[in-house]
Amino acid sequence: MEIKDLLKIVNESDRVSALYDIIEEGTRLSTKAAQVEFLTTIRQIEKHLKPGMKILDLGAGTGQYSLFFAGQGFDVVAVELVAKHVNQIKEKISEEMSIEVIQGNALDLSIIEDKSYDIVLCFGPLYHLSKIEDRMKCISEVKRVCKDNGKMFFAFISNDMVITTETFLYNPNFLLEDLYNRETFKVVDFPFVFHTVDDCRKLLRDAELNIISEIAADGLSELFQDKINKMDNESYEQWLNFHFHCCEKPEFLGTSNHLLFVAEK
Ligand SMILES: C[S@@+](CC[C@H](N)C(=O)[O-])C[C@H]1O[C@@H](n2cnc3c(N)ncnc32)[C@H](O)[C@@H]1O
Repeated sequence: MEIKDLLKIVNESDRVSALYDIIEEGTRLSTKAAQVEFLTTIRQIEKHLKPGMKILDLGAGTGQYSLFFAGQGFDVVAVELVAKHVNQIKEKISEEMSIEVIQGNALDLSIIEDKSYDIVLCFGPLYHLSKIEDRMKCISEVKRVCKDNGKMFFAFISNDMVITTETFLYNPNFLLEDLYNRETFKVVDFPFVFHTVDDCRKLLRDAELNIISEIAADGLSELFQDKINKMDNESYEQWLNFHFHCCEKPEFLGTSNHLLFVAEK
């Protein structure tokens, strides 16, 4: 099956599963360039993390974040839609980890009690749920299961930076094709859902959340992946430090493929 054939699949969960039969999630964050997103996000989560806190990871993928924090001694519950990913997480769990992996949908967390997690990660569902009402439902579930003094972390894929990356990295004719609307400057929401910085703010504010940080999670890393991947370790460390320094500056938000929003009630 090719990506374009996914449109024939009506059920959204089945479509997401079929997408991940085509793209390999397990190696997504494995290069130096891709690790920028992971390392930036970990740093931001650690700012709010205290010993004994409970973490819920929604759309856990193959477990990058769940396994990292379980490995640090935190209690983690990972919820993931795609069976293949659930199995991949389970294969990587070591004995000393306190982690539960559930195959489920972030749209319906009814098996989870209200106000039961200190940290809720939502890195995936909001760029897969195609209907705005489903994205709002997902955010309201995140809010419900988060403790009153807890923190909620949301990942988005940036509409504006995707246009730049697609054009200059993958397809010089991207701006002439139907996936890009030359009047609205929006990318068609397929196979992911794309948000501008203002779209992200509006979603979270409409859910009556208080945004406490807005972070350019990976900045220019995808666009410059070839150059970043060739950096020696010393230069890479300095590039990371520079990125960490810049990623919270508002002027960097528009030029990041992934956006990380931190919110509280
Ligand atoms: C690109 S991966 C990201 C994985 C991981 N959270 C990360 O940030 O590296 C997105 C994941 O979200 C999952 N996902 C998408 N929609 C979901 C939903 N409604 N409920 C649970 N998981 C979902 C997908 O199956 C996929 O594994």
